Amino acid sequence: MKSMLITGANRGLGFGMIKAILNQPKENVPQIIVAACRKPDEANELQALAAENSNIRILQLESKDLDRYPAFTKEVADIVKDGGLDLLINNAGIGSRFHRIGMVKSDELIETFTVNTVGPIMLTKVNLPLFSFSKEKKIFENIFSK
Ligand SMILES: NC(=O)c1ccc[n+]([C@@H]2O[C@H](COP(=O)([O-])OP(=O)(O)OC[C@H]3O[C@@H](n4cnc5c(N)ncnc54)[C@H](OP(=O)(O)O)[C@@H]3O)[C@@H](O)[C@H]2O)c1
Repeated sequence: MKSMLITGANRGLGFGMIKAILNQPKENVPQIIVAACRKPDEANELQALAAENSNIRILQLESKDLDRYPAFTKEVADIVKDGGLDLLINNAGIGSRFHRIGMVKSDELIETFTVNTVGPIMLTKVNLPLFSFSKEKKIFENIFSK
């Protein structure tokens, strides 16, 4: 695998996956890891990791900003070039907030649905052309909550 894109890369499982991938034998570490997060300027740990690992490229992406997806994909394409993209990990997400029906708010439900469901599907869709350039196996990983 030469290239991968992961969302929600600044903390939690996303950041942990990048660190775990970097700890693999060299031949298994992608040459390009596009690490997307919504506030790169505040992603201090990810920035520090990228400073030590030139294969990490940080891009800004707010999952709710669906209109930005095509421009974001262009940025990814400019990084991976003709090699294309081999792996997309849709990791960014909002954990369960809804434990009691009395606390449920419609705007929070809609936000969660957008970030956890609409975003990953649309991001996968706009990135499909990048996979057609890739000779590697094409894999999409979506990390969902129950
Ligand atoms: N941890 C678990 O036990 C577990 C279990 C099942 C599923 N999952 C799923 O696995 C994924 C990662 O979980 P986690 O435990 O690592 O969660 P986390 O620590 O809360 O991290 C969530 C990540 O998603 C990003 N994110 C949230 N809302 C976003 C938005 N609107 N736009 C862009 N990025 C956004 C966060 O960025 P900010 O730092 O900017 O907020 C952060 O990088 C999530 O999809 C979660 O639902 C986790």
